[in-house]
This record gives sequence, structure tokens and C-alpha cells, in this order.
Amino acid sequence: MNYQNILFEIKNHTALVTVNRPDKLNALNGRTIDELEDVFHSIKNNPEVFIVVLTGSGEKAFVAGADIAELNKLDVISAKEFSEKGNRVFRAIETLDKPVIAAVNGFALGGGCELALACHIRIASENAKFGQPEVNLGIIPGYGGTQRLARVINSARALEMILTGDMIGAEEAIRIGLVNKVYPQAELLNKTLEMAEKIASKGHQAIRFALKAVKATDNISLNEGLAYEASLFALVCGTEDFKEGTAAFLEKRKPQFKHR
Ligand code: COA
Repeated sequence: MNYQNILFEIKNHTALVTVNRPDKLNALNGRTIDELEDVFHSIKNNPEVFIVVLTGSGEKAFVAGADIAELNKLDVISAKEFSEKGNRVFRAIETLDKPVIAAVNGFALGGGCELALACHIRIASENAKFGQPEVNLGIIPGYGGTQRLARVINSARALEMILTGDMIGAEEAIRIGLVNKVYPQAELLNKTLEMAEKIASKGHQAIRFALKAVKATDNISLNEGLAYEASLFALVCGTEDFKEGTAAFLEKRKPQFKHR
């Protein structure tokens, strides 16, 4: 696919995906959603990519929401398709078996906040602002915001954001657990890429299994989760990286992971 609204590059096993419509504050129109679906599909199938960083172009916005000019034209049927499609694309991000880190470089509103929520880790710049302002438009979040926000923070805080439509800043976002770290805008991307490179340097199989195990907590009970963890722990002990990692420790050297 020929991308018009995203930038995509791969460096040192890290894929950098940038939503690139800065004149519209990177708002997600239908074309951008299609391109995100395509790029995450290709990332899934690319064995060279171990980890993904997702960000927005410019210094003002990560993503300022779904494209309101397109929203304005929805009817009941097309609105259902719109929401289902966005949910499919965001679910593909959330269930990717490679970590996805959002580098939130400004406004993350509506679909932008929902996109960040679908990522596994969120790092924000000091000027980042998060919000679910859909009620101001007479609608509700349609790309998973009502579900993921309540899970990532808690239902009372999620309701406050969704019912008031108010934005919160990066410091409040870190205080309530919506983001992992906050950096000055100029350092955000490098700091995020540093974290990505650190994760990519580990045995890739261990990273994949750890991600699977933790993400399973979204859907299963503690007992089921512990059984699942035991199965994944057994599987990871069948990898070459397990032999190498433990041998390297005992031999007092750095491991040379082969990601097998
Ligand atoms: N959809 C479509 N266009 C959007 C957009 C969106 N979600 N958010 C911003 N834009 C466009 C603006 O229309 C404007 O385009 P124009 O220059 O052609 O008029 C451009 O991006 C710049 O935005 P502007 O509103 O002028 O910037 P600002 O600094 O004054 O305000 C925001 C920034 C984020 C507060 C404001 O743009 C806003 O409230 N956006 C909508 C947020 C929202 O409701 N998102 C949820 C959608 S479900």
C-alpha cells in the first residue's frame, strides 16, 4: 500500500510508525485507519521487527481524534461500520505479539486517546493532553475508549473523563497510571526509542511470551492466568535463548540472543 498519511521506517528491529497529517492535528480519517491496518499487518508478518513505536507528526498532536468532517456524515449503518472497523484495527495493535509503545507528543483526544490506549506502553511529552471529548460532539467514544480507559485507569476516573469531556495533562496522566513516563517534548522520541531498543535487545521469544501472558489478564481469571503462565513458561524454556541466557549468567558474560 502506498502510504499518504503515515510514515513508516524500520531501524535496529524497531518499527517507527508516525501518523502524518499535521495540518489536521493527525486526525484519523478513513484513509489513515486503512493505512494503520495495513502497516500493522505488515509489521506482524515481518520477522525483522521486534517492537513498534507509534507517534504523531509535529509538536502539537499525537492524534486529535477521529476526523470530525467524516464523523459529521455518518448515519446509523455507516456509524456501526466506522466503529467496528476502528475496533478491528486497534484490536490488531493491542493483540500484536510485539510490544507497541505510544510516544504521545501532544493532544491525544478521542480516537487519539483510544489509539494510545490500544498500545501496550504509553510515554508522554510534558505538553501531552489526554481526553475523550466525544460528548461535546453529541456522541460517545467509538474506538474502544469506554472499555479500555476503564481498564487502564479505573471506572470512576474513566467516567469523569468521558462524561465531562475534560482534558488532563501529562502529570495527571502519570499520576493516575495512564502513562508510564513523561519527558520534555524534545527528548520524547529518543527516550522512547531508547526503551524500545532496550526491549529489542532481550531474547525476542521471552518478550513475546511475557507480552502474551500479561495481556491475557484482560480476559481471564487469576487461576486461568496462572495456568496459562505455567504453559508459556514451559514453552519459553524450550527456546535457544533460554539456554543462552542462563548459560551466559553462569559464565559471567553477556548473552548473545539469537531470538529463537
Ligand atoms: N478532526 C478533523 N479536523 C481536526 C480535528 C479532528 N478531530 N482536530 C483538529 N482538526 C483540524 C482543525 O479543524 C484545524 O483545521 P483547519 O486549519 O483546516 O481549520 C486544524 O486541525 C488545527 O486545529 P485547531 O482547532 O485550529 O487547533 P487549536 O490549537 O485551536 O485546537 C484542539 C486544538 C485539539 C483543542 C482542537 O483542534 C479540537 O478540539 N479538536 C477536536 C478534538 C476532538 O473533539 N476530538 C475527538 C473527535 S471524536
